[in-house]
Amino acid sequence: MLLYALAALLLPLSSIRVEASCACSPVVIPVHVNVLVPKDPTDPFAGLKSNASELRRVEDTYDLLVHGFSYTSQYWSPPVEEFRNYSYTAFSCAQGPYSSLAVDVLGAGLSSRPANSSDVQFPTAYALLSQLARLLKSTNFILPGAQTFKTIIGFGHSAGSGLLTFGSIVDGKNSPFDALVLTSFLATLNISTLPTLTSARDVDPLRWASLDPGYLSRGDHSIFYPTDPTSFSSRMVLLDDLVGDVGSVSLVSQASTAALMSGYTGAVAKIVGSADQIICVGNGGCEDVTALTAAEGALWPAVKSFEFIVSQGSGHDMNLDFFADRTFDTFVRLVKKFSDFET
Ligand SMILES: *[C@@H]1O[C@H](CO)[C@@H](O)[C@H](O)[C@H]1NC(C)=O
Ligand SMILES: *[C@@H]1O[C@H](CO)[C@@H](O)[C@H](O)[C@H]1NC(C)=O
Ligand SMILES: *[C@@H]1O[C@H](CO)[C@@H](O)[C@H](O)[C@H]1NC(C)=O
Ligand SMILES: *[C@@H]1O[C@H](CO)[C@@H](O)[C@H](O)[C@H]1NC(C)=O
Repeated sequence: MLLYALAALLLPLSSIRVEASCACSPVVIPVHVNVLVPKDPTDPFAGLKSNASELRRVEDTYDLLVHGFSYTSQYWSPPVEEFRNYSYTAFSCAQGPYSSLAVDVLGAGLSSRPANSSDVQFPTAYALLSQLARLLKSTNFILPGAQTFKTIIGFGHSAGSGLLTFGSIVDGKNSPFDALVLTSFLATLNISTLPTLTSARDVDPLRWASLDPGYLSRGDHSIFYPTDPTSFSSRMVLLDDLVGDVGSVSLVSQASTAALMSGYTGAVAKIVGSADQIICVGNGGCEDVTALTAAEGALWPAVKSFEFIVSQGSGHDMNLDFFADRTFDTFVRLVKKFSDFET
C-alpha cells in the first residue's frame, strides 16, 4: 500500500511478530467488497464529499496478492539476487523476527485487475486492505495453526501511503491497523507537480495493449531515485523500468484526500528522503523538520504518537538506493516501538 509518485506509491505491508523461520511464500486471498465509489473516477475526494446521486456501488470478489504507483509488492523484496540486500521483508524477519505480508494493490501485480479501471478507486482498494487486516487478526492463513496476529502495522510507500491515509479517515478509531508507517508521501503534496503518467497501453503495448486507457504507467523510473548518481545502482533503475506495473487514474487523483483531517487513534510515523525528487527536492530538501512535523501532524489530532523523519540522502524509492540499510533500521525501530505499545 503506499502513494504516488506516481510513484510507487503503494505498498502496504503488514508486519507482525511471530516465532518462525524466515520462509517466504505467496498467498492469493479472495476478498469480497461492497462499497460506494464516485461515478467520476477523478474525484479528488474519493467520494468523501459526494452526495448519493454522485456515487455508485461496486460489489465484487477480488483476489489480492497482498506495494506505490507503477510498482508491485516486489518493492519490499526485489527479485534480483544481486539486490538481495534490498529486501525489507528478509531484513525485518532476521531482526525480529517480524512477519510481513507484502500486498499487491487492486489492479497491480498478481492481484485481480478489473476490466474497467474506474472500479479501482481508493474506496475499493482500501476496503480490500482493511478486510485483509481484520482477517489476519482472526485467522492465521500465513502459518496455519499458529496464533493469530495481535498487532498489525500498515506500511505504505508513496501512493500506498496515500491509500492508507484515506483508510485511516474512513475507519477512524475502528481501523484494524494498530500503527501506520507512511513513507515517501506528504499530505501537503501538490499532485499537479507529480511526474507524468501515460496510458499503460501506450507505455508498453507488448504487455498492456488491451488495457482500459484509464490504467496508467511510466516507462522511466529515474525520478524515483536520488539526483546523485553514486547513491544508487543504475541497474536497479533498469530493473524498475522492466518490471514496472500499472495503476488507475483514481489512485493518483484521490491521493488528495490525505489533506483531510483523520480521526485515526493508532500511532503514525512519516518518513521522507531528503533527495526525493518528487517530495523534497524543490521543497528545501525537507530540511525544516519542525515545520513539517507541525504541518503534517496537525492532520492527526487523535493519534497515540506522531513522528516525522527525514532520511538523509534517500530518494523516493528509499528501499532501493544505497541508503536502504539505514531506512530498514528505522523501519525496524518503529515496528519494535509500535509492538511495545501493544504489549
Ligand atoms: C449532488 O451534487 C451535485 C453536484 O454538486 C448537484 O448538482 C446535485 O444537485 C446534488 N444532488 C442532490 C440530490 O443533492
Ligand atoms: C466503466 O464503468 C463506468 C461506471 O459504471 C461506466 O460509466 C463506463 O462506461 C465504463 N467504461 C467502460 C469502458 O466500460
Ligand atoms: C500546485 O502546483 C501548480 C503547478 O506548479 C500551481 O499552479 C498550483 O498553484 C499549486 N497548487 C497549490 C495548492 O499549491
Ligand atoms: C548491497 O550490496 C551491494 C553489492 O555488495 C552494495 O554495493 C550496496 O551498497 C548494498 N546495498 C545496501 C543497501 O546495503
